[in-house]
Amino acid sequence: MDRIRITGGQHLHGTIPISGAKNAALPLMIASLLTSDTITLKNVPNLADVSLLIRILRNHGVDTAVDGKRANGNGHQGDTLHLTARDIVDTTAPYDLVRRMRASFWVLGPLLAREGKARVSLPGGCAIGTRPVDLHLTGLQALGVDIDLDGGYVVAKARNGLRGGIVNFPKVSVGATHNVMMAAALAKGETVIENAACEPEVADVASCLNKMGAKIEGAGTSTITIQGVDHLEGATHTVLPDRIETGTYAMAVAATGGDVYLEGARADLLPAVIDVLREAGVEISETNRGLRIARNGSGLNPVTVTTAPFPGFPTDLQAQLMALMCRAEGLSVIRETIFENRFMHVQELARLGADIAVTGEMAKVRGVASLRGAEVMATDLRASVSLVIAGLMAEGDTTVNRVYHLDRGFERLEEKLGSCGAQIERLHS
Ligand code: UD1
Repeated sequence: MDRIRITGGQHLHGTIPISGAKNAALPLMIASLLTSDTITLKNVPNLADVSLLIRILRNHGVDTAVDGKRANGNGHQGDTLHLTARDIVDTTAPYDLVRRMRASFWVLGPLLAREGKARVSLPGGCAIGTRPVDLHLTGLQALGVDIDLDGGYVVAKARNGLRGGIVNFPKVSVGATHNVMMAAALAKGETVIENAACEPEVADVASCLNKMGAKIEGAGTSTITIQGVDHLEGATHTVLPDRIETGTYAMAVAATGGDVYLEGARADLLPAVIDVLREAGVEISETNRGLRIARNGSGLNPVTVTTAPFPGFPTDLQAQLMALMCRAEGLSVIRETIFENRFMHVQELARLGADIAVTGEMAKVRGVASLRGAEVMATDLRASVSLVIAGLMAEGDTTVNRVYHLDRGFERLEEKLGSCGAQIERLHS
């Protein structure tokens, strides 16, 4: 298994191109199941999760083609993916594929919309809490779907086709919003989703669906209204920039000090994160090309942060912020309200000398004068990159094991950080 070795203490200077958002690319790829025409997606990040979803979609009968583009100047421009689900050849999403990535469960709504039936394994993905799918199922039931659970599979049927309905989610779920929104695009009549996820990736998927001929209003707010249509057509769509990757590199620069331009990043995708980083003492400015992040010499102020659905502080940046706060001058308080088991990075950060006490959903991080490199283990996608940030700040060498978690969500991480002066290398074993 590959490992990443970092020698800490280097300031970061330069430009990092921000990739397309994984969390938009995945549902956009799944939306290809809704039409027999070709969906062309530009700026798709080259990630293990994308490759796995290609396998899953192929299993349903989707033809996929990739044009890899290497542009001049700033290098990689993201892949262009062509997805054509001319015929759905299989409505089963097997355990062996779905268990590796939770988002693959989202094929359920589109398969139902297109074929009236689907058999999808209950999901796996990062081991961060129980992560049930009850909201997906009750949402689809409101559209007239009969659901049985059989041998670890959700067996769903819409005997008379999908019909619009009122879906009022008791809790905000990004995945359940995607699943119901995609299904409702082809249902008969109107669907209203209340307490919908407002994440920018939901709005990005709705914008692509509308290019395909769907009639969706309000995506990006908590009420989404969908007038079902008979069929959807092909479209071309560019995936929006990854706000989690943006926040991660912003925190890496905050951690090491330096001055880095995050090319293609958009401030409106991470308002709460920008506020928190400014409070911590990081300089952030926006231009029409991206975001400039700088910290020169000054210490970091501690912060108090609670994770929340968008536009709140994203759970997907909680681990990275915690790593950063390990070196702040004082006590930071970080509350994780989205996933109950998302503090697995704490014990790894402690191996570098961090002082963190966890009680329930609250972590108290007391800044220390220095961290020392150590061997650590990645436990999930976002936790693993928090260890990279800690390693960049630490004295000496840090080796991060199990980096396959990183490859699920961060494209060319070593190259992007290395080009700004980080001493980081992948060790193949
Ligand atoms: C998506 C993101 C993930 C992010 C998360 C929260 C993708 C591919 N993944 O995951 O990176 O961390 O949003 O912003 O976009 N829940 C239920 N029942 C359900 C569904 C969810 O109780 O049926 C709970 C979950 O356990 C969790 C909370 O709702 O506590 C939010 O989960 P959800 O928004 O669904 O996360 P994902 O869509 O899986």
